[in-house]
Amino acid sequence: MTFLARLSRLWQPDITLPRIVILISGRGSNMRVLLQKSRERKLLARCTLVVSDRPAKGLEIAKAFGVPAILFAKNKGESREEFDHRLAERLKQENPDLVVCAGYLRILSRPMLEAFPNRIVNIHPSLLPAFPGLHAQKQALDYGVKISGCTVHLVDAGVDTGKILAQRAVPVMATDTEETLSRRILAVEHDLYWRAINDYLKQIGALRKS
Ligand code: GRF
Repeated sequence: MTFLARLSRLWQPDITLPRIVILISGRGSNMRVLLQKSRERKLLARCTLVVSDRPAKGLEIAKAFGVPAILFAKNKGESREEFDHRLAERLKQENPDLVVCAGYLRILSRPMLEAFPNRIVNIHPSLLPAFPGLHAQKQALDYGVKISGCTVHLVDAGVDTGKILAQRAVPVMATDTEETLSRRILAVEHDLYWRAINDYLKQIGALRKS
């Protein structure tokens, strides 16, 4: 990027950037990197809201970045669809170009998928379609694969089955434990996710506004 292009990007008010919302459930390290990259104008999007479905450390991190962050929990007796309908209605208020799952532990159901078709992305700590679901790193170790990695994909009705947008390979060492492999993959996730989001925002035409 030329110096002038970089300068003009810095002058652009945030308001012209694509809007994203981030869904989390826990520590929020991917979310933190996305907020940091957004602040540095490397991620070409503005996060208008962080939502966690449970009390989470990530909510405090988001607030420290000055990003509105809310706990949005499932009510007792509420079905998955009812909850996702309520969530979709709240998220629509943000008018997001993209909904970004970052360690969000709920499987999204019809109301969310219909509200944001092809506009929900997730990151998963394996080379999908291998090892979907929980404990992907342990699954990889148990299977004995020598290469694992991470995948950014669109969210559909399945568990980590949506179209793959980006992947990176990570070597598995003979001495790896679930913890060491998870840490190595997570470092790569942090570098992959914001780049994949930029690419996808470009692909769907959301960057035209900026
Ligand atoms: C990451 O490993 C991500 O791939 C998976 O959940 C984990 C979230 O970690 N979907 P963090 O909350 O971003 O630190």
